[in-house]
Amino acid sequence: MKMTKIAMLILTVAVALFILIPSLSWAEDGAALYKAKCTMCHGPDGAGKPAAKIPSLVSDDAKAKSDADLTKVVQTNPKHAALAKVLNEDQLKAIVGAVRGLQKK
Ligand code: HEC
Repeated sequence: MKMTKIAMLILTVAVALFILIPSLSWAEDGAALYKAKCTMCHGPDGAGKPAAKIPSLVSDDAKAKSDADLTKVVQTNPKHAALAKVLNEDQLKAIVGAVRGLQKK
C-alpha cells in the first residue's frame, strides 16, 4: 500500500515536470518552429514572396549556403531582429534542418 502511494507521488511529479518544462522533455521540433516563426514571411514551402522582397529559402542560391550562413542570416539580418532574440542555438539548428528538408522537396 505504502509503495503504491510513493509510486503515485513519483508519477504525479514526473507528469507535472513533463507539462511544466517541455523544453526538457522534447528535442526541438524544427518543422514546428519553422511553421511558427518563418512561414508568415517565407511561406510554408519556403518559396518566399517575391512581391514583398522576401527571398525564397529553396532557391539554388539558398541551397548553396552553408548551415552556418543560414543561421547567421537569421541571427544578424535586421529583418529577423525579433526572431534572433527569441531563438536559441538549438532551435536555430532545428529550423535550418527543417529548411534543408523543404529544399529537398
Ligand atoms: C518578418 C518577415 C520574416 C520572417 C518572420 C522571417 N524572415 Fe527570413 N527574410 C525576410 C526578409 C525580408 C529577407 C531578405 C532580407 C534582405 O534581403 O536583406 C529574409 C531573408 C532570409 C534568408 C536569406 C535568404 C537568402 O537567400 O539570402 C534566410 C536564410 C531567411 N530569411 C531565413 C528565415 C528563417 C529560417 C526564418 C524563421 C526563423 C525567417 N527567415 C523568418 C523576412 C522574414
